[in-house]
Amino acid sequence: MAPWLRLLWLLGLLLGAAPTSANPYPWASGAEAWEPLSPELLGPARFALDAYNRGRAAGTRAGLGAVRGRVRRASRGSLYSLEATLEESACKDPMVCQLPVSKKTLFCIFEVLEELGKHTLLRRDCGPVDTKVTDLRNETFNSVLPLSSKDPLPEEFSMKMISIFKNFVATYNRTYESKKEAQWRLSVFTRNMVLAQRIQALDHGTAQYGVTKFSDLTEEEFRTIYLNPLLREEPGKKMHLAKAVRDPAPLEWDWRKKGAVTEVKNQRMCGSCWAFSVTGNVEGQWFLNRGTLLSLSEQELLDCDKMDKACMGGFPSNAYLAIKSLGGLETEDDYSYQGHMKACNFSAKKAKVYINDSVELSKNEQKLAAWLAVKGPISVAINAFGMQFYRHGIAHPLRPLCSPWFIDHAMLVVGYGNRSNVPFWAIKNSWGTDWGEEGYYYLHRGSGACGVNIMASSAVVD
Ligand SMILES: *[C@@H]1O[C@H](CO)[C@@H](O)[C@H](O)[C@H]1NC(C)=O
Ligand SMILES: *[C@@H]1O[C@H](CO)[C@@H](O)[C@H](O)[C@H]1NC(C)=O
Ligand SMILES: *[C@@H]1O[C@H](CO)[C@@H](O)[C@H](O)[C@H]1NC(C)=O
Ligand SMILES: *[C@@H]1O[C@H](CO)[C@@H](O)[C@H](O)[C@H]1NC(C)=O
Ligand SMILES: *[C@@H]1O[C@H](CO)[C@@H](O)[C@H](O)[C@H]1NC(C)=O
Repeated sequence: MAPWLRLLWLLGLLLGAAPTSANPYPWASGAEAWEPLSPELLGPARFALDAYNRGRAAGTRAGLGAVRGRVRRASRGSLYSLEATLEESACKDPMVCQLPVSKKTLFCIFEVLEELGKHTLLRRDCGPVDTKVTDLRNETFNSVLPLSSKDPLPEEFSMKMISIFKNFVATYNRTYESKKEAQWRLSVFTRNMVLAQRIQALDHGTAQYGVTKFSDLTEEEFRTIYLNPLLREEPGKKMHLAKAVRDPAPLEWDWRKKGAVTEVKNQRMCGSCWAFSVTGNVEGQWFLNRGTLLSLSEQELLDCDKMDKACMGGFPSNAYLAIKSLGGLETEDDYSYQGHMKACNFSAKKAKVYINDSVELSKNEQKLAAWLAVKGPISVAINAFGMQFYRHGIAHPLRPLCSPWFIDHAMLVVGYGNRSNVPFWAIKNSWGTDWGEEGYYYLHRGSGACGVNIMASSAVVD
């Protein structure tokens, strides 16, 4: 298990979690009625259980208890929403489980997508069954939060948390479908605040972590909806190495000040960061080589780049090839963003830019800086550890928490410099301007932080 996963897992053990049946995926609402375990649900249920047990030692694996579910069919496949209880047996052998655990029953919510006989797990939320929830709307709210009853938080803390949560709900205009979901979201929010505090305590930079628009999502939901786990699984297409630039890197650089960067965009509930990272890079290349800044279409890549997986993730290296073989990119205005995959509607006549090639860049951050200052913004992929709770400042997570081998998010480096002697990369993200510093992430430069240097690439326009 990755160290940060372990941290989350320990935190999860400590705080417990309350179950919910509310569905945060709008496209999955209006589904068929719930039905008990039928032969049709058995496949997806077994798949979810296997996913849950993956990486667990024999003797610690969970078994399936009661299951009910519902199905929603779309043209390409079926989406199964499952509610299941899992039984975990006790484990006292420290050679098998890291901490002794007693026998427990978990309540889990799974969303399993089946396309052409292939299953994909879209959601997994599990929590102990015996958690207690109290009424969020009760202003006096003086009982324990929905946490493990063995470990209640101090009352003061709960009161403070409710007021912060109410503030959050108002600031980000959050609506929940039911009281039950609101209660569950409060418990998630509370755990996240504790988690953000830990990440803060362990950060070596100047970053502040705390409430963000993602504060009511479980780490798992966040990862499945917004991140790109493909990046850590398979390597993309190999590219040739760019020729290094001769000049040494200037002390600082910012392409935003030179008009090479479009406004911050929003990928919404879709793991399409790879497309935004690539269009951002091509926008910069086109500007520097042809003198016009055009906002380019990510939707074209979602729909027409068949090497990548639209909202399920993709690789910049594949996207460059797709742009080249399709015959260019249309503009954002001509082929606008939908946030989900649709039929390809690219028309070569409407393409406004083309690329001729793509290159992989040096892993040396000095050389990367030198290249950036001469050639333009760079597509990078990093480990997104802590970004769910990032507010501002220069992030510098401890290396074991932000391993360069767990890359799961692509973005665009647009500049670099020092802030009070802390060197940083200025990175354009695609989560809207209401995240980070007006949509930007600042990450420590020169230490290979979160793997920022290992997947740097660019398109080439001749
Ligand atoms: C609010 O909670 C308190 C303490 O748990 C309880 O005595 C009171 O009846 C509740 N009020 C409402 C309106 O539910
Ligand atoms: C808040 O959300 C509601 C429902 O989603 C929407 O109708 C309303 O326009 C939103 N208000 C703001 C200020 O975003
Ligand atoms: C496809 O693009 C053409 C213009 O290029 C447009 O007229 C048409 O409505 C589009 N089709 C869809 C399904 O969006
Ligand atoms: C770059 O690609 C464009 C469009 O495919 C093509 O017209 C142009 O000749 C290419 N440039 C070079 C130098 O190959
Ligand atoms: C930026 O900070 C680093 C580390 O403190 C320092 O070595 C470097 O000289 C600084 N660069 C500038 C341009 O101030």
